[in-house]
Amino acid sequence: MFHLLSTHDLSTHLIHNWIQRAAEFKAGTLSDCAVGKTGVFITDRPSLRTRASFTLAFEALGGTFHSFLPGEIGLGQRESTKDIAGVLGSYYDMIIARVYEPTDLVVLSQQSGVPVVNALSKTEHPAQALADIFTISEYFHNPATLHLVYVGDASNTAQSLLFLCDQLGWQFTLTGPEPYHFPTHCTTDLSVLTQADVVYTDTWVSMGQEPEAQARNAAFAPYYLTTQLFEQAKPTAVFMNDMPIRRGIEVDDAVVDGPRSIIYQQAENRIYMQMAIIEHLLTHQ
Ligand code: CP
Repeated sequence: MFHLLSTHDLSTHLIHNWIQRAAEFKAGTLSDCAVGKTGVFITDRPSLRTRASFTLAFEALGGTFHSFLPGEIGLGQRESTKDIAGVLGSYYDMIIARVYEPTDLVVLSQQSGVPVVNALSKTEHPAQALADIFTISEYFHNPATLHLVYVGDASNTAQSLLFLCDQLGWQFTLTGPEPYHFPTHCTTDLSVLTQADVVYTDTWVSMGQEPEAQARNAAFAPYYLTTQLFEQAKPTAVFMNDMPIRRGIEVDDAVVDGPRSIIYQQAENRIYMQMAIIEHLLTHQ
């Protein structure tokens, strides 16, 4: 059974297939692959884009979709992840799970008997990053190569983007303070922005890192994306952010709302990439 727990589960061939399929769905291609099927979204943290877009994607494919909000299930608290997996697997045909610990995703996938999708864990955000590379492919017309410069820390989204960029032959560089780097693909030097086709910002303080907020805000202050800094990127460069955005704290409003910002296209495209993911998981069991 195929699960999407990590971008490392994906071949380059499959990534290209999903980009193509997402484009087809966006162009109006229909599929009834989820008719008679049920999906569920469970989360231990807030979500707007991920929950809404998975709901719309599953329903667009003909299925029925339910969500449980943070606190309603109490994963690992009210009852064990193993028992939740067994019960959800007896009710639903697919589980979309936002959890902190990747080990919970493994338990869900091993104990539920149905496909499981990682809707954000502390190490990866594969559905987000897949939608992002679809958005970049769409905007730049299936580029053979380009350079994505990520301004931020070694976050879950950055980890997924890094792997997907490597798989596609695209360059990925994270710029930020050294303590927040990956072992590779990182620099403290903001001049890397001059090479950027895509300037991607993300929050410096992810959910669960609030106790570190003061230290992180201080360390990342030089990486605040001003309009002047964004203008150092290639004239054709676009601005992306997975949202929610801390406007005026991490990036200028003028960049977010500027003519080269594609953040809403990026958010919308999550529907189409997730249709491609759901279709694949329902038809490769
Ligand atoms: N980008 C993202 O995952 O948004 P949500 O947290 O609102 O789902």
